[in-house]
Amino acid sequence: MKALLILGLLLLSATVRGKKFERCELARTLKRLGLGGFKGISLANWVCLIKWESNYNTRVTNYNRGDRSTDYGIFQINSRYWCDDGKTPRAVNGCGISCNVLLQDDITQAVKCAKRVVSDPQGIKAWVAWRNRCQNKNLSQYVRGCGV
Ligand SMILES: *[C@@H]1O[C@H](CO)[C@@H](O)[C@H](O)[C@H]1NC(C)=O
Repeated sequence: MKALLILGLLLLSATVRGKKFERCELARTLKRLGLGGFKGISLANWVCLIKWESNYNTRVTNYNRGDRSTDYGIFQINSRYWCDDGKTPRAVNGCGISCNVLLQDDITQAVKCAKRVVSDPQGIKAWVAWRNRCQNKNLSQYVRGCGV
């Protein structure tokens, strides 16, 4: 029983660890992937959004009891609308990907899907954490010293 508990804790920590980006490493990677200025939104907005959605960690998932969907990865992209996890009711899969792809250390596909999300009419307001933590704030600290 105790061995099982310890094994369970090890597995749990393995699923939540993932790749944790350093702030400037993330800013430079987002820039390389063409997110800076995409739809007129600065890199600082994206770094702020990711800070408060996932704390820069690619492996974060959060289950939403209300609609039984799950949010995946650094951008916390939702399985109801954007990716397929095989268990979300009435899912749409707007990005045409498996949700697991959004948890990879390589964030190329996650960025591509975020570009799709932000291309919808509500834009970056789709992210609650952006509205609460980044909108109308001075965001210079998020890219300070990153050379981007
Ligand atoms: C934002 O904050 C930085 C320092 O944290 C400051 O240098 C800069 O002037 C501020 N920008 C605005 C528009 O307030």
